Amino acid sequence: MSRSPMIVRTGPALRRAIAGLRARKATIALVPTMGALHDGHISLVRLAKRRADKVVVSIFVNPTQFAPSEDFSSYPRTWKADIDKLTAQKTDLIWHPDIKVMYPDGFATRIVTEGPACAGLEDRFRPHFFSGVATVVGKLFAQVRPDVAIFGEKDFQQLRVVTRMAGDLDLGVKVIGSKTVRERDGLAMSSRNVYLSAERRRSAPALYRAMHESIRLLRAGQDIGPAMAAGRAIIEQAGFELDYFELRDAETLAPVASLEGRRLRILVAARLGTTRLIDNIAV
Ligand code: PAJ
Repeated sequence: MSRSPMIVRTGPALRRAIAGLRARKATIALVPTMGALHDGHISLVRLAKRRADKVVVSIFVNPTQFAPSEDFSSYPRTWKADIDKLTAQKTDLIWHPDIKVMYPDGFATRIVTEGPACAGLEDRFRPHFFSGVATVVGKLFAQVRPDVAIFGEKDFQQLRVVTRMAGDLDLGVKVIGSKTVRERDGLAMSSRNVYLSAERRRSAPALYRAMHESIRLLRAGQDIGPAMAAGRAIIEQAGFELDYFELRDAETLAPVASLEGRRLRILVAARLGTTRLIDNIAV
């Protein structure tokens, strides 16, 4: 049985714990999460262990990135199972502030994000999302002062936004992206997959199939328009309401008119009933 990670819930306790981890010049990796941990999150913890001496995982369901209509209050919370998983990974420290510690009365500052945060993807459907993410991640970086921070490619626009923010604000944190972990049928693991009924769960891998079909057509020489339309059709036939299914520059997330000379990504968001799923893959 591994030793349980240290769990801290207040600013002073965190500062003491970080000073302890920093002794003998140890490097620190931070893995920010909202809990409800699955194998996707755990793969980030494993990468963190390879990239630094000590691993800090934050668990904080961040209210500022949820719109009033979204699932903040019902977001899955699985604290005990999360601790067991992090113990098995020999995580050094869990930072689990409560809302008043993170956002004390009178809190009045937000990080405004542009560039990849205004690409017309998630931002079109969740207008306050990236400023909420950037604000909380900026705070986490200031609190933990990690050398590296690990984010999943699963949330590709978020990865680009956070990378940009860390560079733009000279936060001294190297942001590292980690590959998407999938179920056997291709569905990207997500804390929100538990919302799917058995029938919808069977339809959900259509997102992954659709991205692959569009890539196959692009590689076979089809124009971007019809190749992307074929992917959209697969998703709609599976019963999804599509928010977007887009081919973008993997760095800037800007729309592209041709395949030449750059790294590209297909990004998708779609709703099955009330469950909204997002995914992306490299082209
Ligand atoms: P959460 O959805 O809990 O995700 C935490 C991290 O796990 C993110 O970097 C996300 O991209 C990564 N992740 C989720 N599913 C994954 C999968 N299937 N494979 C690989 N990585 C995966 O993203 C957030 O929380 C929040 O916005 C946060 C960054 C913590 C700020 O509140």
